[in-house]
Amino acid sequence: MNSEYGVSRPEFFTIVVKWQSFKGCHFVFYIYTMAEDLQIASGSKAEMYETLLPQIKALIEGEPDLVANLGNIAAALKEQFGWLWVGFYLVKKEELVLGPFQGPVACTRIKKGRGVCGSSWQQAKTLIVPDVAKFPGHIACSSLSVSEIVVPIICNNEVIGVLDVDSEKENWFDETDQQYLEEIVSWIEYG
Ligand code: SME
Repeated sequence: MNSEYGVSRPEFFTIVVKWQSFKGCHFVFYIYTMAEDLQIASGSKAEMYETLLPQIKALIEGEPDLVANLGNIAAALKEQFGWLWVGFYLVKKEELVLGPFQGPVACTRIKKGRGVCGSSWQQAKTLIVPDVAKFPGHIACSSLSVSEIVVPIICNNEVIGVLDVDSEKENWFDETDQQYLEEIVSWIEYG
């Protein structure tokens, strides 16, 4: 929300200054308000991540609520990249359970070692799948999904969930996505 008097601040907030007169007195109000829009970048994939990462950091920094932060991370990634599906699964009682996401409805529970998400959890490592049809045991939540990357969220040496991203395009994810997505999930605090 940038008024003509507003000043954008890098930490993703805007100061809106308002003047008001009442009975001959002049008042000035400083209102801190969250910017409504992400700054969406164009350019190379790395350039897009470089613009997005500080904004994501500003969104989640100082906010202890896990669901709120996962929701904003998923929304910011979806808005910048327009992927088919981006969201989180969280480990709950030996299963991955669907968490905050953006995109079509998805499978609710995934067992350890099943599909790309369950495999990433079991191996505690990022998995890049150029063609999901060639991944044994891939779980097709959407028939539109063609390639996928899954990044484990590791806290205190334990996988507490995964970030899952799906694309309608083949071979869409690479080491650049891995590098930046791993950095984002490293900021997630749990418990
Ligand atoms: N394809 C994933 C399941 C989750 S959905 O893609 C959202 C998998 O094989 O684990």
